[in-house]
Amino acid sequence: MRVLLLGSGGREHALAWKLVQSPKLTELHAAPGNPGIASLGQCHPVRADDAEAVLGLARALQIDLVVVGPEVPLVAGLADVLRAGGVSVFGPSRGAAAIEGSKLFAKEVMAAAGVPTAATLTEPTAPCVLKADGLAAGKGVVVCHTQAEVEEGLSELVGLGGDLVIEELLEGPEISVFALCDGATCLALPVAQDFKRAEDGDVGPNTGGMGSFAPVPGFDAEAIESLVDLTCRPILAELAERDHPFIGTLFTGLMPTPDGPRVLEYNCRFGDPETQSLVPLIQGDLLEVLVACAAGDLSGAQLEQAPGAAVTVVLAARDYPARGDTGSPISGIGAAKATGALVFHAGTALRDGSVVTNGGRILNVTGVGSDIRVACDAAYAAADLIAWDGVRRREDIAFAASRGATPATG
Ligand code: AMP
Ligand code: GLY
Repeated sequence: MRVLLLGSGGREHALAWKLVQSPKLTELHAAPGNPGIASLGQCHPVRADDAEAVLGLARALQIDLVVVGPEVPLVAGLADVLRAGGVSVFGPSRGAAAIEGSKLFAKEVMAAAGVPTAATLTEPTAPCVLKADGLAAGKGVVVCHTQAEVEEGLSELVGLGGDLVIEELLEGPEISVFALCDGATCLALPVAQDFKRAEDGDVGPNTGGMGSFAPVPGFDAEAIESLVDLTCRPILAELAERDHPFIGTLFTGLMPTPDGPRVLEYNCRFGDPETQSLVPLIQGDLLEVLVACAAGDLSGAQLEQAPGAAVTVVLAARDYPARGDTGSPISGIGAAKATGALVFHAGTALRDGSVVTNGGRILNVTGVGSDIRVACDAAYAAADLIAWDGVRRREDIAFAASRGATPATG
């Protein structure tokens, strides 16, 4: 089976790492990919958001399945162009991807499906959360504790154009739930947690994610099934009824509250950096499941969860998220891998055969172990071996969970 993987981040490198383990895979192609993915398959200089070019590439390579990493091409309708061109794809249509692409649509679908979420407010009065309706590369949500933050947030978001959603502010830890969907039914992966803030102790600016771990204590298979029953299956049914069956990864960001779980957001794709912690915990053939989803029939497919845990530490540029870094030589990747840890590339490039920085989030180091503490120690021990001028990371990824805290206890 020939697979074309779209995207260029740590999430896509982690997916590539898992897909090449499938006995069914004959060729892995990626567009545009990155130097880590290039060690597993062939990268092509085609942008994931250039739908016609992706379709041309898929046809030229006689691709059996396209796997789409990022949300932007999905929300723009890439999967529709590929399917209309006769190419099988793991990723939702434009209509289904609107669950991430439009906050207003997501709120409306949640209400129709009876999914518990933060209440929608009519006035921007603190405390509240302001959300731009459309995709905004992580800059579309402003959490406001004070009225001054509300005023500042309003002027920022008005600058983005489009409609606004005003929501009740919920406080507490968040978890990420991933369901692989075939348009009607789904298979859940372990629950993960990511660390969005730039600095230790969950302070500083929001980022794409500075680290992750899985599984989250307190969420065993039974608990995950009841979360999926509450927050994913009703959405799948509602979207299918609207003729937008969701094929791909439905990623639910939710908060367990004293009144029960509340959905904060849906995404139409795998999480980054959650995926880096999830793939080492998936036993079985992920490719087979993605193919079954794309074909619209998950019946009979299954994925077991490996015992143990995984922790991912993001190594970022000095000024991330304000600015990335380019061209600084990176040392120690081989030594880090030699410890048994996984090193996934995100913002790297090759210069004269050597790996250099090329972005904000540069590398992901994933430790796997018998429990979160062992995995965490493994991730940091390997991360210690990697260096470049200005490398920065959080020191507290999975720290609380590795010492027994659960989302319910903080
Ligand atoms: P979103 O763009 O909807 O994914 O939101 C991004 C992040 O903003 C979430 O992951 C939360 O950290 C935060 N957030 C969103 N909605 C709320 C809410 N109602 N209360 C508190 N935090 C929120
Ligand atoms: N880690 C959060 C996301 O991928 O959106």
